[in-house]
Parts: sequence; structure tokens; C-alpha cells
Amino acid sequence: MAKRIEDLRIVERESLNKDFFILKLAGDTEIPEMKPGQFAQVRVDGSRDTFLRRPVSIHDVDYAGNTFKLLIQIAGKGTLVLSRLKEGDSLNLIYPLGNSFTLPGNGEKILLIGGGCGIAPLLFLAKHLNAHGFIPDILLGFRNRERIIEYDEYKNAGNVFLTTEDGSMGEKGYVTTHSVLQTGTYSRVYCCGPAPMMKAVAGFSKKKRIICEVSLENLMACGFGVCLCCTVETVRGNLSTCVDGPIFNTNDLKW
Ligand SMILES: Cc1cc2nc3c(=O)[nH]c(=O)nc-3n(C[C@H](O)[C@H](O)[C@H](O)COP(=O)(O)OP(=O)(O)OC[C@H]3O[C@@H](n4cnc5c(N)ncnc54)[C@H](O)[C@@H]3O)c2cc1C
Ligand code: FES
Repeated sequence: MAKRIEDLRIVERESLNKDFFILKLAGDTEIPEMKPGQFAQVRVDGSRDTFLRRPVSIHDVDYAGNTFKLLIQIAGKGTLVLSRLKEGDSLNLIYPLGNSFTLPGNGEKILLIGGGCGIAPLLFLAKHLNAHGFIPDILLGFRNRERIIEYDEYKNAGNVFLTTEDGSMGEKGYVTTHSVLQTGTYSRVYCCGPAPMMKAVAGFSKKKRIICEVSLENLMACGFGVCLCCTVETVRGNLSTCVDGPIFNTNDLKW
């Protein structure tokens, strides 16, 4: 799949809460085909401390409208600068990068698990699964009721289960303690979130012999296999998260 380096126009900017915002992007030409799990390397302009691009997953794609969305959490200087962009501003991206989640086989029962900004790639994945005839269960974890984002979007794409750390909505606790993990009979889990959460989900999946794919959020610099700063240890040797990933089957990871 050809990579592009392109200036895109921000056609919509939506603030979800004080930490999360969405940028809807459009170009002058037709947007390329993108796959769930792929990401963009976003240039942060106007800031001397953030010369490296920031990797951000493709959150949602509208081929008919020729737009796509990035869901971004303000985590530090770069994402803070990005959060100040307005409709009409332009954003330079290298995209689409990385591999993608693999499609399940016929009749598989699927669970998507996301926490924090790890929920970002799961909406595009859920819609892609819908287009292939699957209605996934979707388990999302947030700190509290006020922090829940994109609930209706996910509900339109699957059966949503929630956890909040204070129990203000859904089950109290973490995604890894939700009862659906015990009651559901899944053949495949897709997961993205903080590393300890993904490791716990990988351990659970291994015990239950469920196929588990995770989206790794290793530190990245180039994003296309040159700098080797995103290396991950696997049973097939050291691989680049940006080119060989970010999606890995957890049986391949030395976790
Ligand atoms: C493949 C991939 C997809 C991602 N998708 C999303 C997404 O859809 N939405 C989202 O909000 N975030 C996503 N992230 C994380 C996002 O890239 C970082 O939060 C962002 O780079 C932080 O930049 P900063 O300048 O704001 O923070 P910094 O001040 O640089 O650091 C704040 C935190 O972010 C981490 N971080 C910094 N730079 C990177 C980097 N280049 N790669 C990964 N982590 C970094 C640091 O370890 C630190 O914990 C993704 C990361 C990867 C690798
Ligand atoms: S980020 Fe440079 S090789 Fe992966």
C-alpha cells in the first residue's frame, strides 16, 4: 500500500472532554485505502521541542465523504500543540503506516477491548468488522462517567460493555476485571491500551486459548522502519513496531 506525505485540511475539530479531541481531515485528492490498526505520523508544527512526528491511529474513515478522523489524547507537549489546531488549519501526515488487525474467520465470536487512547483504533476496526458481517462485543474502560467518550459511536458498531474505576457507569473496576471476560465465549480478542492492560488480556487469552491481537504503542521516531527505536522482541526475533506492527498476535510477543 503506497504511503503518502500530505497536507490535509482540518474540516472539523471536536473537543470530547478536557483530555480528548477529534480532528476530521480532508485532502484535495481522494483519500487512500486504509486498514484498521494503521496509523499516521503527524507533524507538530510551530513548536521547537517537538521535532519528531507523533504516531496517531486512524480512528474512523468515511470514504464516501472523503474524510477520516484522528482521536487524540493530550499526553504531552506535541499533542497539546495539536489540540490548539482549529478548523481550516492544515496538518501534515505520513500515512497510512503499519500493518493491520487480521479479519476473523466465519462464525468467530469477537471481543474488542480498549482503554484510554487505546480505544482510538477500535472504532474503525468495529465498523470494518460490521462490513464483513460481524457484530463484535466491545469492552471499554474509563476512569469515570465524565470521561466516557464516543459511547454512541461504539454502540452503533457492537454490543458495548463498560467499566469505570469508580463504578459511576458500567461495572466498577478495570476492563480486565469485567464479568464479560468470564461469561463470554470468544474465539478472538483485539486489544489496545496501556501495556499492563494488554499484557493482562494476553495472559487471559492464552489461558483460554483465544487468539489475541494487540496494538503496541511503543515510542516511535521515523514511523517507517529506518531508526529502529521501536524494536520489539518477538519469537521471530526483533521486529519494528512501526513496520511489522503495530498489530501483533500476542503468541509472537516475548511477554
Ligand atoms: C502506533 C501508535 C498509535 C497511537 N495512536 C494514538 C491515538 O490514536 N491517539 C492518541 O492520543 N495517542 C496515540 N498514540 C500515542 C501517542 O503517539 C503519544 O501519546 C504521543 O506521541 C505523545 O506525544 P506528546 O508530545 O504529546 O507527549 P510527550 O511529552 O512526548 O510524552 C508524553 C507521553 O507520550 C509518550 N510518547 C511520546 N512520544 C511518543 C511516540 N512518538 N510514540 C509513542 N508514545 C510516545 C511518552 O512515552 C510519554 O508517556 C499512539 C502511539 C503509537 C505508537
Ligand atoms: S519508528 Fe523508526 S523504525 Fe520504527
